[in-house]
Amino acid sequence: MYVCICNALKCRQFKDAAKAGARDVPSAFKACGAKPKCGRCFEEAARMLTGAEPVRDPLATPAE
Ligand code: FES
Repeated sequence: MYVCICNALKCRQFKDAAKAGARDVPSAFKACGAKPKCGRCFEEAARMLTGAEPVRDPLATPAE
């Protein structure tokens, strides 16, 4: 799944950056050889680095 559309970075790349020592979003971008642009992905990228669960939409219909 793509996390950063501007740079076509996938969740695996952020997780690999975290394993390589990236502890914040700017260092993760640097580890991926990319530069942050619009910033819309920063929250999700930070979750990739910490391993936190994604925020679920409380209004979404549960899957059956
Ligand atoms: S979506 Fe990541 S910088 Fe724009």
